[in-house]
Amino acid sequence: MNSLRDSLYEKGLSFDDVLLIPRYSDVESRLHPDISVRIGNTKFYEDLSIPIISSPMDTVTGHRMAVELGLRGAMGIVHRFMSHEDHAKELRRASKARSEHGQYFPLVAAIGVGKDAKERFNHLHSQLGSELDWIAIDVANGYSSLMAEMISFVREHTSLPIMAGNVATGEGFSFLAEAGANAVRVGIGGGSICKTRLMTGFGVPTLASVAHCYKARASLSESLNDVAIIADGGIRYPSDLVKSLAAGADAIMAGGIFAGTIETPGDVVNIDGREMKIYRGMASKEVQDDRKGGLRPGTCAEGVSTYVRVKGKAYYVLEEFSGGLRSGMTYANARTVSELRENVKFLEITRAGLEESHAFGTKV
Ligand code: XMP
Repeated sequence: MNSLRDSLYEKGLSFDDVLLIPRYSDVESRLHPDISVRIGNTKFYEDLSIPIISSPMDTVTGHRMAVELGLRGAMGIVHRFMSHEDHAKELRRASKARSEHGQYFPLVAAIGVGKDAKERFNHLHSQLGSELDWIAIDVANGYSSLMAEMISFVREHTSLPIMAGNVATGEGFSFLAEAGANAVRVGIGGGSICKTRLMTGFGVPTLASVAHCYKARASLSESLNDVAIIADGGIRYPSDLVKSLAAGADAIMAGGIFAGTIETPGDVVNIDGREMKIYRGMASKEVQDDRKGGLRPGTCAEGVSTYVRVKGKAYYVLEEFSGGLRSGMTYANARTVSELRENVKFLEITRAGLEESHAFGTKV
């Protein structure tokens, strides 16, 4: 059924290169499909009623986004681009909101790798203890010795589940799963604010990476068979979510779709009469300027910074994406996300096919 999925990686195909073929369906309503997923593995897992995670970026996820998404059954990872003390404060605010609402949702802290990350972890662990639910080890290239060392460090000190990344290939995924990650972020250079591919020549289309990791996971030992695949970078439309899950992801991660929502950190600024907020790559020059007084000599920016229009609540983004997913599942005769993955067949399309896919009637 899924021969093209098996070769998405070899062909280097991206979201816009493929469509999913509609099939006979007896799912009678778009409200019937169950879009919930389980992230993690048998030992440590998280049930999400919406398979969407917001990126640990300083213009995307602070406590407000983590609370908003958490309460709605999605997940937000509180970014690490602040002092250890402020990080603990942000997480504590989210934890407090959880108590006030009397509703559990996962409290997830991002950390990096190396000495500072170990200190950050120790600080957060001592300040928040059992309030924390996940640790996300967040670096640009997760297929690395530094990442493996950081996973062991976290594992030595806690039994909390670990999300690690990013990787672009099945080899990278297997490396992190075997090192002890419970979920792996998959995607290098595909984000809307990324310049990694331009600056380095390295990267793999996110959809292709996901399919490769899905294939690799199937050949790991049984205990690693359910380490979650999180498609990260380049999600623009609900269809990108549907295609990611169909290719083998358990959830998607995104920053761009939430940029400009009121729950993102950062001030609203007025530019030419329009209300805007900043959205920036964490490897952008602007972030380095703010945090370290400029780019380190010998390095270059691998992200960009931009203004986006203020666009209302993150809730509406979740509604649009989960609506698209449920509808997509009816075309695949799928009542669950695993049925979507089993039933779906990919079709490679041409540029003409892509053009036809957009609402071209709006072009005058
Ligand atoms: P979207 O497409 O949702 O992508 O905007 C968000 C993801 O992009 C990654 N990220 C970066 N990648 N340079 C990069 O090459 C950067 O400066 C950068 N900042 C974030 C990250 O995986 C995020 O989830």
